[in-house]
Amino acid sequence: MVKMPQVPVSELRISYDLGVLHQEMMAADPIEQFGHWFEHARDSPILESNAMVVSTVGLDPQGNARPGSRTVLLKDFSDSGFSFYTNLGSGKSSDLVANPNVTLLFPWYELHRQVIISGKANLVPRDMVEEYFHSRPRQSQIGAWSSKQSTVLESRQALDSSFAHYEERFLDLELIPVPDFWGGWQVLPHRIEFWQGRESRLHDRLVYVLQEDASWNIERLSP
Ligand SMILES: Cc1cc2nc3c(=O)[nH]c(=O)nc-3n(C[C@H](O)[C@H](O)[C@H](O)COP(=O)(O)O)c2cc1C
Repeated sequence: MVKMPQVPVSELRISYDLGVLHQEMMAADPIEQFGHWFEHARDSPILESNAMVVSTVGLDPQGNARPGSRTVLLKDFSDSGFSFYTNLGSGKSSDLVANPNVTLLFPWYELHRQVIISGKANLVPRDMVEEYFHSRPRQSQIGAWSSKQSTVLESRQALDSSFAHYEERFLDLELIPVPDFWGGWQVLPHRIEFWQGRESRLHDRLVYVLQEDASWNIERLSP
């Protein structure tokens, strides 16, 4: 029998009282505003402020749309988009090839904040992939070669053997090549929502929506 926690889950709650959001406080450009919030998150005790939940929509074997989510690490953001790196044969990458619509969610619970970015994903240009790949620790580069991400493994040992194989293969190479099945996705946003928890569950939600003339419109949403 499952042992129930001493405090019932239904009673777990905190009140949100760390800040307020007014439109006048916000930058006109949501990427600039994200930068302010990201800096604050990075300087706070959040363990991985650049961890985000990436949601994609793929097709199941019957051809029905099915959502998928997973955490990845944000590696860059600018006017060109928000980027992360991964295996190009992974579940998320297959989803994005078929359907580039994607959502990135930053759950900054310690700050009573959440940012949700919706947009379209494009592949990161290969020269940027090369540059980022070679900035990673050597062991992570070998790790990228060793894993056919999201495919079924016979055993843990099979993965460790694959790593040992590539470690051996690249032993005398100073510069490990980038696997062509590894790369990055860059998400160009068209909607960015900033959420700040408030008392009595009357939270502040300000959403930026990209207009046809490339300007951003800001709206307040009901919590
Ligand atoms: C904190 C954290 C950071 C992660 N960062 C990455 C990442 O940057 N890239 C990546 O491919 N997977 C990352 N993962 C693993 C993914 O969550 C996921 O298991 C993997 O990418 C396979 O997902 P998929 O089968 O949906 O494609 C991370 C997981 C956690 C918990």
